[in-house]
Amino acid sequence: MALLEVHDVFKHFGGIPALDGVSLSVEEGKIHGVIGPNGAGKTTMFNVINSVYTAEKGTILFKGREITNSKPYKIAHMGIGRTFQVARVFNEMTLMDNMMVPIIPRRISKREGEKKALELLEMADLTHLRDQLGVEISGGQKKLLEFMRTMMADPEVVLMDEPFAGVNPALIERLIEITFELNKTRSKTFLLISHDIPSVMKLCKNLTVLSAGKTIAEGESEKVRHDPSVIDAYLGH
Ligand SMILES: Nc1ncnc2c1ncn2[C@@H]1O[C@H](COP(=O)(O)OP(=O)(O)OP(=O)(O)O)[C@@H](O)[C@H]1O
Ligand SMILES: [Mg+2]
Repeated sequence: MALLEVHDVFKHFGGIPALDGVSLSVEEGKIHGVIGPNGAGKTTMFNVINSVYTAEKGTILFKGREITNSKPYKIAHMGIGRTFQVARVFNEMTLMDNMMVPIIPRRISKREGEKKALELLEMADLTHLRDQLGVEISGGQKKLLEFMRTMMADPEVVLMDEPFAGVNPALIERLIEITFELNKTRSKTFLLISHDIPSVMKLCKNLTVLSAGKTIAEGESEKVRHDPSVIDAYLGH
């Protein structure tokens, strides 16, 4: 059974379709890529999955249960985490305090939370910056911090929107390693939007391609990448 399924979802903005019957199926334990030209509807699809936007039509299932248009906090509590195209970091808070934000509404002790936060900061090579403010770290480090903060809530699946955009090559490698590690050692599933095709090809065995709000291909990355309709969609833009 697929862990996350999007079936024929529609979303318009001012009469213009951003999602025009999009579908996607993510298997448990996979690192699944989403690619497509600018404006294809990739971010909008994430926003509909976690109910930042309302789906006008279609269904979204998580572990076989319908979650379409449920409250965003409920979706998060069910185990769907999210990072953003522009990393959302609390600039005036230390990295450690940033990490502790997701545990506030949860019933784990501060000590347990701090232990977990330190383990995750260590994984991202950010431990030495734990007392720095969010504003003091680089854009790439912000992406890493946001990613690690998302892991504090222990999601089953993480939706990652452009994790590599504006990140230097060394940190991209680190992000890739961490994603593999979390996938292998903690069985995390990832759904990852990216324009960085070499990184996507390294990480993702499966791909979904969106163009103009529609799914134009889905399947094994190597096959999908060479699909004529996919090449067409990119060259056409
Ligand atoms: N809040 C909004 N209001 C109006 N139009 C929007 C809004 N969000 C997205 N759109 C439009 O919906 C379409 C899809 O946008 P979306 O951001 O999902 O694309 P994308 O595939 O993530 O693109 P990119 O690769 O550039 O990030 C675009 O035409 C965009 O202008
Ligand atoms: Mg986007």
